[in-house]
Amino acid sequence: MEVIIKETPEQMARLGAELIAEVVRRKPKCVLGLATGSTPVSTYRELIRMHKNEGLDFSRATTFNLDEYVGLAHEHDQSYHFFMWENLFKQINVNPKNVHVPDGMAKDIPAFCRWYEEQIVKAGGIDLQLLGIGSNGHIAFNEPGSSLGSRTRVKTLDERTRADNARFFKSMNEVPKYAITMGIGTIMDARQLLLLASGAGKAEAIQKTCEGPITAMVPATIVQLHPKAVIVTDKAAAVKLTREYPAEPRVLVLQ
Ligand code: PGA
Repeated sequence: MEVIIKETPEQMARLGAELIAEVVRRKPKCVLGLATGSTPVSTYRELIRMHKNEGLDFSRATTFNLDEYVGLAHEHDQSYHFFMWENLFKQINVNPKNVHVPDGMAKDIPAFCRWYEEQIVKAGGIDLQLLGIGSNGHIAFNEPGSSLGSRTRVKTLDERTRADNARFFKSMNEVPKYAITMGIGTIMDARQLLLLASGAGKAEAIQKTCEGPITAMVPATIVQLHPKAVIVTDKAAAVKLTREYPAEPRVLVLQ
């Protein structure tokens, strides 16, 4: 596991985008696992810039998103479908047929989850999975206590997660209670992981993820078991780390 601390959120975003772009350049037919939330927005902005100014080509890439709220239609402005189209897909040349976001309106959710897992396998598996981290240490919507071997399924959101995400809704009551999420086992099957964290609110979760024992109570700690994982944080998210970490990748583990 490689931990890299950048001075600012902008530098974190730029390095995140460079690492993703490297995968796209080396393997144009790559499968990218994508994430939502505030953290990846600036990384997506940088990827859009690379597409527009440097010709970064997503036309053969396939994408799978980590999660989606149950009960929000694709057009709902807080759905992750909407988020992904607004913040990335609309502005790059990805083929809409190759884009996958869990369907929060699926009638038969367990069947949908099985189908989603099958599509990932059929696409050849995820080459690079982008991750954020919750202030409670969740990855995707795998809340504390989630099975470390879990697969795509429906999860009840933690009250802390609902409170963290309430800022995007008119009131706490409107924040969905359930989500479809890739499981921790699904995420760990990706060939490479890239976890981004920004801001003081993530400092405790990042300290536990990088330096604490592996526990289902902090799902992100599972990343320690992945053979090719990179964590990029900004300075604020790194304040509780006790060991020294570099500001540049020592070896470019992602490829
Ligand atoms: P954030 O969410 O990027 O909005 O902080 C990250 C997460 O909850 O995984």
